[in-house]
Amino acid sequence: MQIVHSIAELRTQVTAWKRAGERVAFVPTMGNLHRGHLQLVARARELAPRTVASIFVNPLQFGPNEDYAGYPRTLDEDSRHLAAAGLDLLFAPSVAEMYPRPLATMTQVTVPELPAVLCGASRLGHFDGVTTVVSKLFNMVQPDLAVFGEKDWQQLVIIRRMAADLDLPVNIVGVPTVREADGLALSSRNGYLSAEQRAIAPTLHRTLQAAAQRLRAGERDYAALETQAQTNLAAAGFQPDYFEIRRPDDLCRPGGAETELRIFAAARLGRARLIDNLPVHLDPR
Ligand code: PAJ
Repeated sequence: MQIVHSIAELRTQVTAWKRAGERVAFVPTMGNLHRGHLQLVARARELAPRTVASIFVNPLQFGPNEDYAGYPRTLDEDSRHLAAAGLDLLFAPSVAEMYPRPLATMTQVTVPELPAVLCGASRLGHFDGVTTVVSKLFNMVQPDLAVFGEKDWQQLVIIRRMAADLDLPVNIVGVPTVREADGLALSSRNGYLSAEQRAIAPTLHRTLQAAAQRLRAGERDYAALETQAQTNLAAAGFQPDYFEIRRPDDLCRPGGAETELRIFAAARLGRARLIDNLPVHLDPR
């Protein structure tokens, strides 16, 4: 596996592959890799002969009171995992390589509306940071397809919308959430949990499952379900941020006739802000 830190080296290698007619699949990450990230790499390898991943902790997507400085940076260990997973090229740029001018002076890419809800409502500017860095990475790597996790469903929907609106020639592929045996979605932020918090953490997934079960059983009082779930999370020791039932593709509130829904949750547990979501299929009435 090659590791490159500059855009010039990245372009040289990708250009050579493209000249040889080889398709390129791309997996953007912020590092501190776990089995979830490696599942994206495995999917990328199934879909294209050449695979590129990036590791870049993107300052533009962190709010002033968020964990940018403390975000775990584990490049050596991450590179070993990626090499073992059969990745061809790891792109690990510095902040100066990605943002040669002060952040506030850089052009940004903004998707309207979708970032206003769920995580975007409490993380102002977060998704502008994501769409900006992902656009830049797409222009650098020029992949045929890019793989994203369903754990960050809102991010996946926003990237799909951006690629469609800007006619980016990149196929966006989603991969289902990889979980621990007890249901907790793998996340780089799980490392912030104490042993006691770690024992409580799977309650987030269980609360989503319970709500999904009630929807499948015919419950349609969404507001009551959401309030009940938030109460249960608070009783378990979480500080809930949101628990909401929405439509999967446009993230709008359901009108009542939908057969596909998605339930989204975010809650703080100590230093960690955990997010998760589940699909719900309903039989037409
Ligand atoms: P990061 O949080 O490192 O996640 C990188 C990719 O891994 C994302 O597509 C995310 O959805 C996926 N992922 C994380 N945990 C997962 C799990 N348990 N199962 C499946 N996939 C999982 O998301 C970002 O970085 C950044 O916002 C980025 C897109 C790289 C832009 O900076």
